[in-house]
Amino acid sequence: MWKHLFEPLQIGPVTVTNRLGFAPNCPVTDGDLTTGVFGDDSVAYYAERAKGGQGLVIIGNSRVSDRTPYFPCVDPNMFDDRNIPWLQKIGDEVRDNGAKLFIQLFYTSWGRTTAPQQSSMYESEVPLTIPAPSSITNATQGVHLAEMTTADIHQVSEDFSNAAVRAVKGGVDGVEISLHHLMLHAQFFSKIYNRRTDEYGGSMENRVRFAIETLRRVRRAVGNSIAIGYRVNARYENPADNSLEDMKEIIQHINANVEIDYVSVSAGGGESPSMSAPMGYMAPGYQMPDTAEIKAITNVPVFGIGSITSPYQAEDALEKNQCDLVLMVRQLFADPEFANKAREGRPDDIRPCVRYNYCTTRFPFRVGCFQNVAHGREKKWGIGTIEKAETPKGVMVIGGGVAGLEAAVVAAKRGHYVALFEGEERIGGRLRLQAKLPLQYEWGNLIAWYEHTLRQPNVIVHTGERVTSQNIQEIIEEQQPDAVILASGTSSAPDGFVDGTNGSIPGWESEMVLRYEDVLDQKVEVGQHVTIFDNVSNELAIGLGTLLAKMGRSVSIVTPYKALGTDRHTSGNFRDVLLVELLDQPNVTVHAETYVQRIEEGKVFLANHITHGEAVEPAEEKTDSLILINHFESDKKLLDALTKSELELHVVGDALGYGPIHDAILAGHRVGRSV
Ligand SMILES: Cc1cc2nc3c(=O)[nH]c(=O)nc-3n(C[C@H](O)[C@H](O)[C@H](O)COP(=O)(O)O)c2cc1C
Ligand code: SF4
Repeated sequence: MWKHLFEPLQIGPVTVTNRLGFAPNCPVTDGDLTTGVFGDDSVAYYAERAKGGQGLVIIGNSRVSDRTPYFPCVDPNMFDDRNIPWLQKIGDEVRDNGAKLFIQLFYTSWGRTTAPQQSSMYESEVPLTIPAPSSITNATQGVHLAEMTTADIHQVSEDFSNAAVRAVKGGVDGVEISLHHLMLHAQFFSKIYNRRTDEYGGSMENRVRFAIETLRRVRRAVGNSIAIGYRVNARYENPADNSLEDMKEIIQHINANVEIDYVSVSAGGGESPSMSAPMGYMAPGYQMPDTAEIKAITNVPVFGIGSITSPYQAEDALEKNQCDLVLMVRQLFADPEFANKAREGRPDDIRPCVRYNYCTTRFPFRVGCFQNVAHGREKKWGIGTIEKAETPKGVMVIGGGVAGLEAAVVAAKRGHYVALFEGEERIGGRLRLQAKLPLQYEWGNLIAWYEHTLRQPNVIVHTGERVTSQNIQEIIEEQQPDAVILASGTSSAPDGFVDGTNGSIPGWESEMVLRYEDVLDQKVEVGQHVTIFDNVSNELAIGLGTLLAKMGRSVSIVTPYKALGTDRHTSGNFRDVLLVELLDQPNVTVHAETYVQRIEEGKVFLANHITHGEAVEPAEEKTDSLILINHFESDKKLLDALTKSELELHVVGDALGYGPIHDAILAGHRVGRSV
């Protein structure tokens, strides 16, 4: 089935068994999360990706010096000897499962955004400046950049070689030096951020000198027993900075001057985070064409990456000779068994990353995938921990949103007989609707995965069969379940409860008031002038506004929040891209810190949310349709009817009240394991 994916690859002295790897990502530390010391959770975290069949695992950004600011919960300290035995444990587990372990070494710089503010919360001695080639104003991140002296530069190279020696004592198979994502060395490469006039600034050779010195010191310190590589951006996103051609020249210059075993190619980071781990706005494999150009001028293995979510995409990149090994991060958060499932000819079983970046919104705290709730919890819920139930039960799941679907999948794996009821013709709940919005279509991949996964002999999915308080008894008599999981979700309330009015919006009974669900399901007509009242500030209103504007409507969005998309589960990158798309449309207006006070004869009256009622400009707006995304209700009658029955009952997800998608999946997963 695969010509290339499972071919071995030689990387310096190291042989990896296949062409798939877990790219560097902020690692999981343990216990006291602020110490930067690995623990049992870290061992389980990396071992999981090796158990899942990937040939290479790379630990992410590991600090080489305590003189740098840092992200306390995610950066391991490679200046700390306490990490040596932990690295040995991680490496042993990774190798026992057939993979090799590399570690990425880095020096914090403003490629890591607001690092000083983060770490000074925990440690009083932390430096409050960030070392940089030149002390220029960095208005975007609000940090102080301090120009490094020549002695500082030499010290940093020394820090890298000391950390590499420590990594070798920890038994790693390779070290990777960060020359990417506008980390420190990458700023030296820059034509914009490096304004030095000494031997580290000016010509290409001068700007690259620091990287070469660092790599040489590392090679001298660790010899040829392990692989040494570096990660680099194929181009800088700022068109005035290094182009692809410039980077090719830089890479050739480095490789001509130091013995290197591999080059890993990346994109974005620093000033352009939306390019390093993008969402639906970039195609899968979008970095591969640039990577191919670098491969063409490089005579060591080249690693490629970028939104790969299927083994077909990875195979295609190898077939086209764009790279020698395909790395993934988010896809292996979502499903660490990617390689095994591909090798066993089960690619459809791979749970797809939908690239919505909940995992990055959790940054800089402990990362977590919204759909694979075992991510970061591998010790407890990792591969092989779902055990068969001693006595299979009949489990009835009411609701085919993500909470019910996850509960059904896990309960079915445990051997229970599952009957799932969904009122709509297709499962997916809220996500089914969201998948209709611009740039959010990948939610649909997750729904398709649930559909595929539930096609099993012990599962029956009844779509188009809504369970209500009227028919519940009849269905229970027919099904005779041992347990019921109520996952019936919420729907937006037609009266649009608002705290400003202390209740329903006066005038809500008007025909012009629509629920967003009915709009997306095309059950109602939407007028020419539309007002959307967004009281959740996530990606819904932005997406719906864009969709309607693209359909030629004039759209006004009213939100009590400071801005659209401020909900903490909405990824910042995604929000920015969606907002640009929205505001690019003609006839779109946004009223922030505002709410709809009342509705009267084709008009909505707006008021200031901060002052609770003061008029805003304009105080009223003529509109044909007011679409509500502002207050959600669960079906309490169904809950009452079930509570009265003597059945084992579990209530999960939005059936308890509107909440984040991650929480719904987590609740479904937990109940699937316990039922
Ligand atoms: C949560 C998270 C943490 C990351 N941490 C690192 C890191 O420590 N070092 C690094 O070089 N890249 C890091 N990255 C970038 C990834 O290595 C990778 O380039 C990016 O996610 C694109 O790959 P993907 O589409 O397979 O996720 C991180 C990405 C994510 C999502
Ligand atoms: S949180 Fe979203 S983007 Fe991140 S790994 Fe999971 S599915 Fe992918």
